[in-house]
Amino acid sequence: MSTVPRSERFDDVYFSAEDGLAESRHVFIEGNDLPARWGDKDFRGTFTVAETGFGTGLNFLAAWQFWNSFRAHNNPRRLEFISVEKYPVNAGFIKDVLSVWAEELGDCLPTFCDLYPVPKTGAHSIDVAEDVRLTLYIGDVNEVLPKLNIAVDAWFLDGFKPATNPEMWTEAVFAQMARLSHAGTTFTTFTAAGEVRRGLQAAGFEVTKIKGFGRKRDMLAGIYSGKRSA
Ligand SMILES: C[S@@+](CC[C@H](N)C(=O)[O-])C[C@H]1O[C@@H](n2cnc3c(N)ncnc32)[C@H](O)[C@@H]1O
Repeated sequence: MSTVPRSERFDDVYFSAEDGLAESRHVFIEGNDLPARWGDKDFRGTFTVAETGFGTGLNFLAAWQFWNSFRAHNNPRRLEFISVEKYPVNAGFIKDVLSVWAEELGDCLPTFCDLYPVPKTGAHSIDVAEDVRLTLYIGDVNEVLPKLNIAVDAWFLDGFKPATNPEMWTEAVFAQMARLSHAGTTFTTFTAAGEVRRGLQAAGFEVTKIKGFGRKRDMLAGIYSGKRSA
């Protein structure tokens, strides 16, 4: 695919050149066990996803669309999707790069492009549907997370690779994740870097290596237990 956006600053792509939407579904949706958690007919209430690195919003769109497939359950449910982005892109850029999935993403993509804010520093809360709210924080993840007071059910860790974007993978970020997690909170990330695994373990997450997307051998998934490793 020739349209995969790339960051010169971080020498990395926003998502897989093989198929970004399929990667998002594999890494974040399946990795966090959302088919079972959202598919549970008894689940009701609010489910909160928090993401580091909003980028083009592809993970948000994949999650929102998947969430919609459980509407038939007819329980009172809300999806709160919180994401943090320091270097926001504009709506035109998003429309261009995500248009390859226009058919697969259906109405979610044009609705999102219409509602996407002028990305100024601060918080932007957008009710994209009656049961789905996106809150996009424009700022540095190290500064935004300490200000939040939310109970996260699943983390999507999607900074650029730790080698070039280390500030997305700091001890401080992992400590904030622990503060905002509860027993059973999960996380996933495309990276399998040892320092990320160790940092999350030290913050109280049980971490497992699972099969990565496409040609990637491994990725990390885990659950918050509150037991910190030394
Ligand atoms: C791999 S991309 C995210 C891809 C995105 N989830 C998508 O669906 O397009 C990583 C993102 O992290 C953002 N980023 C880099 N450093 C950051 C920081 N310190 N705080 C918040 N966001 C940051 C980048 O601007 C980029 O949009």
